[in-house]
Amino acid sequence: MPVLSGREWQYVKECLDTNWVSSAGLFIERFERATAAALNAEHAVAVVNGTAALHLAMVLLGVGPGDEVVVPALTFIATANAVRYTGAVPAILDVEADYWQLDAAKLEAFLREGCIRHNGTLSNKATGRRIAAILPVHALGHPCDMDAIIAVADPYGIPVVEDAAEAIGARYKGRYVGTIGRMGCLSFNGNKTITCGGGGMILTGDAKIAARARYLSSQAKDDEIAYVHSEIGYNYRLTNVLAAIGLAQIEKLDEHIAAKERIARRYYDGLAGIPGLTPMLQANWAQNVHWLFTILIDSTRFGLDNMTLLNRLLEAGIETRPLWQPMHRSSALRDAFVHSEITVADRVHAQALSLPSSVNLTPEQQDRVIASIKQASRA
Ligand SMILES: Cc1ncc(COP(=O)(O)O)c(C=O)c1O
Repeated sequence: MPVLSGREWQYVKECLDTNWVSSAGLFIERFERATAAALNAEHAVAVVNGTAALHLAMVLLGVGPGDEVVVPALTFIATANAVRYTGAVPAILDVEADYWQLDAAKLEAFLREGCIRHNGTLSNKATGRRIAAILPVHALGHPCDMDAIIAVADPYGIPVVEDAAEAIGARYKGRYVGTIGRMGCLSFNGNKTITCGGGGMILTGDAKIAARARYLSSQAKDDEIAYVHSEIGYNYRLTNVLAAIGLAQIEKLDEHIAAKERIARRYYDGLAGIPGLTPMLQANWAQNVHWLFTILIDSTRFGLDNMTLLNRLLEAGIETRPLWQPMHRSSALRDAFVHSEITVADRVHAQALSLPSSVNLTPEQQDRVIASIKQASRA
């Protein structure tokens, strides 16, 4: 649930009072600068949502028909859809068992054994398509092992784009996620740690990419006055009103992350020692922002499976969620390339349940969630 407790009213009123409501205005620049400053990013380009940020990132890399982009099996489908919009096809790989993020070892094996290099291009042996990019997702607020992924991708010259939609503010070995790969994409959807209602951002250290992202996201205008375009552009620029909300929200980022951290600590303490219940782990190189606190339920030891627990909690008025159907199971992605070894994503999906994690969740509400889970496990 969004928490709009900062200067949202004040900033939106300024937009309305001055008539600057559309895709130009000072709040867009202020929001971009504030986000870049908060995350130590060199450039930030605001767009209409995280999916558009991912799509544009693919376009900026020249991804298109005949290409494949590696995505993890465990993510929200927007990651894979953004690849499809370009005419490219997702190459779906498994996640690792500890933190449920793209498995760098399986990626390495796939690129080495499952692909072939020809004239400086790496192609999937099974499909003949070029591997154009790698799109790891910092799922649930936990960073991927970026050094390992980049070490695998770099020798082949394959760019890495981070889907940091769920993980704004998370850090990998001290660096903010979204600033480590060639580009990083953020989402400010209503369910995220901070929100514009809807919004997204491309982060990059490359000034040329940032300039081109601005150009393509604003209909590729070659001239501000005459309607002249030499490329296909997109109407992806964020509006000033939504950027005004975003600016007020980014001012609260640290506060929201601190609240998520408190919520995670209370769950770790409160749920410790319940047979068959394992909370999501945190790598020692990671600073997880705990966007959604997620547990695994081993039904034989816990006494119920994850979906039965979901229904029990719902009866008590507590909403929880399973994880996304793994990408290789989605009929929307039936044409995708699926790597042969996907086992972890299926197991995690079959056992996972994400618990209430809103920034404004009170300790009392949280204690009720914990008590209801304990009660269900004994029943
Ligand atoms: C991993 C991931 N990627 C991409 C998106 C897409 O972001 P948006 O909803 O802003 O389009 C989301 C969430 O919504 C997400 O969770």
